[in-house]
Amino acid sequence: MIFIVGGAGYIGSHVNKFLSKKGYKTLILDNLSKGHEEFVKWGEFIKGDLKDKRLLDKIFKEYNITTVMHFAALTDVRESIKDPGSYYRNNVKNTLNLLDAMQKNNINRFIFSSTCAVYGDPIETPITEDHPCNPISPYGRSKLMIEKILEDYSNAYDFNYVSLRYFNAAGADPQTEIGEWHEPETHLIPIILDVAIGKRENVQIFGTDYPTPNGTCIRDYIHVMDLADAHYKALKLLEEDKSEIFNLGNGDGFSVKEIIETCREVTGEEIPTIESDRRPGDPPILIGSSKKAKRILRWEPEFSDIKDIIETAWEWHQKLNNEII
Ligand code: UFG
Repeated sequence: MIFIVGGAGYIGSHVNKFLSKKGYKTLILDNLSKGHEEFVKWGEFIKGDLKDKRLLDKIFKEYNITTVMHFAALTDVRESIKDPGSYYRNNVKNTLNLLDAMQKNNINRFIFSSTCAVYGDPIETPITEDHPCNPISPYGRSKLMIEKILEDYSNAYDFNYVSLRYFNAAGADPQTEIGEWHEPETHLIPIILDVAIGKRENVQIFGTDYPTPNGTCIRDYIHVMDLADAHYKALKLLEEDKSEIFNLGNGDGFSVKEIIETCREVTGEEIPTIESDRRPGDPPILIGSSKKAKRILRWEPEFSDIKDIIETAWEWHQKLNNEII
């Protein structure tokens, strides 16, 4: 059985679907602070928190868990700058509870949701895994701290891990059973789609004076189902008792203005914008090299076209806003 912590959230729920379709049994733990119970359509669900060490021990004793996947974290860069304590408690301290409960119960395979935010403002792109890690936000630092802890645990104990550094997760389940649903929403694509659907008046463009061709930030968008596939492939790698770190991106960068333009094409809506100040903690360009994942995991993104990614997001966004899920 695969234990998916944070499996009611955006990425965790897509991984749960993917693994369930592959025939894995899954157990989801989520405190529902950000996740949605409606997203746990596969596997078993326990509502609970990583703060609860007794619950973790009980789960590991009761269920035949072979691997833990850990998605439960706070992920808002701007919020992490204002309230670092919450980020270190939620993302670092709670993960230690999870690792220690695994240790106690001899469970030794771990897949960690890391982020391109560990690189900070990169000195060159595309970013490879050996690029220096100098995060510029408490969020990025909290993720890097866990990566270091994982490295130490794998050196000291019978423990293997795969850390997956996601670039910008985007898109939704092509069958529109689940998708992106954050409250409040802070991510670019769903915010643009909110404007397209008439829920917001305009999109704020955070910074138009970055050192990029049109002055807006460039990101590497990767489809959430391609991320799910990488987790499935990482499971296979752990079966060989190996520990690795991988970037997961498309290797292509799109500026904020280009994303807005593609959303206009996909939705057929005008989508008004206003230019605003830079948002703190945003590096100008993040583009990843995923050569290592392609070589070792034999992973190949299926949704490499940004239009296809946005189309799946748009399908889901319309469903989310027109129906009660
Ligand atoms: N942006 C806008 N207007 C908005 C929202 C976002 O201009 O209303 C811009 C941001 O400034 C950024 C780009 O759009 O330049 C993408 O922003 P997102 O919030 O969608 O994504 P981020 O790149 O900030 O964040 C993502 C993940 C984080 C991760 C980070 C790495 O959500 O978990 O990448 O920097 F840490």
